[in-house]
Amino acid sequence: MATVALVSRPASVLPKISSSCSSAIQYASSVSTVQQRKLHHALIPKGKGGRSSSSGIAATVFGATGFLGRYVVNRLGRIGSQIIIPHRCDQYDIMYLRPMGDLGQLIFMEWDARDKDSIKRALEHSNVVINLVGREWETRNYRFEDVYVTIPQQIARAAREAGITKFIHMSHLNADITSPSKYLRNKAVGETAVRDEFPDAVIMKPSEMFGREDKFFNHYANMRWFGNAIPLIALGKKTVKQPVHVGDVAKAIINAVRDPDANGKTYALVGPNRYLLHDLVEYIYAVAHRPFMPYPLPRPLYHLASRFFSMSPFEPWITPDKVDRVRKPRFWNNFSLLWGLYQQ
Ligand SMILES: NC(=O)c1ccc[n+]([C@@H]2O[C@H](COP(=O)([O-])OP(=O)(O)OC[C@H]3O[C@@H](n4cnc5c(N)ncnc54)[C@H](OP(=O)(O)O)[C@@H]3O)[C@@H](O)[C@H]2O)c1
Repeated sequence: MATVALVSRPASVLPKISSSCSSAIQYASSVSTVQQRKLHHALIPKGKGGRSSSSGIAATVFGATGFLGRYVVNRLGRIGSQIIIPHRCDQYDIMYLRPMGDLGQLIFMEWDARDKDSIKRALEHSNVVINLVGREWETRNYRFEDVYVTIPQQIARAAREAGITKFIHMSHLNADITSPSKYLRNKAVGETAVRDEFPDAVIMKPSEMFGREDKFFNHYANMRWFGNAIPLIALGKKTVKQPVHVGDVAKAIINAVRDPDANGKTYALVGPNRYLLHDLVEYIYAVAHRPFMPYPLPRPLYHLASRFFSMSPFEPWITPDKVDRVRKPRFWNNFSLLWGLYQQ
């Protein structure tokens, strides 16, 4: 697996566990998206490369209304791309995306993930397809199988049938078929399904992304169930995180769009340093000038509490699956290790 370490951010003041991989953001200079189909004149590259020029990229970004989506749309818009934004919400709710592209460069259209025709319509004029669809929790209408396997598979199939040559799919760093987290198991199955449909797909596997609207740092920043005390499994001293900035992930996506050699590859996207979860959360509270009072919460109790929160009809603050995703149980790590050795 090719690995991209994203290191454009300054190293933090937090204690590092180990510096990970070398700095190697891939930059590609030319727009190399091979257009198999008839080119609309609006797609012929022209201009100096800014927002008002034309990069030759017409990208459909599924899941553009999410956290990562806005950064991807902005980076595409910044180089003068045409961006098709399939959405299922009210158009007025995503007006914040409008200034990210030049006049007429952002095209909003409604889509239904279960309607194959609407998927086809969304990508019929594009030469790049990016799938950012995701959900942290299951809903009555959409299970993890739907969001991470069926929908990516349908999009990949539609992209292949439309003759598109660049397909980028977002997975997760810890996607693993043996994971205790259903989210991560389905991410792993989704990767295989996408590869089967679109062998040249570029698969991106970021670790936890942080940024202004993230669900990682904000999650811990708002974690005050019982006053100021912060519940952490084993005080977060056994959990190692290597978060990556959302802007760097968006940059990696754009580089992959422009780099013809990226086709068919899988990239792990991680930040430059590893930290203990305990240190990260302590840092968040220090930045917020709030007292940090962690207390150890045993996994079964954490699970129990998260079951209660997951009953919320709105966005659940935590779910049992998220507990397993954030920190794998140790017996599972040992099991995975033994399973890996057995398979060798
Ligand atoms: N955030 C992280 O730390 C992280 C880490 C690793 C991997 N990833 C992966 O990266 C991708 C993007 O993450 P994100 O944080 O930007 O996710 P996000 O903020 O939850 O956004 C998800 C997007 O998917 C759309 N979506 C979800 N379910 C849908 C459905 N059934 N039909 C149509 N659209 C649907 C959402 O549309 P609505 O706005 O209409 O709901 C939204 O645009 C996801 O695949 C995620 O699993 C994220």
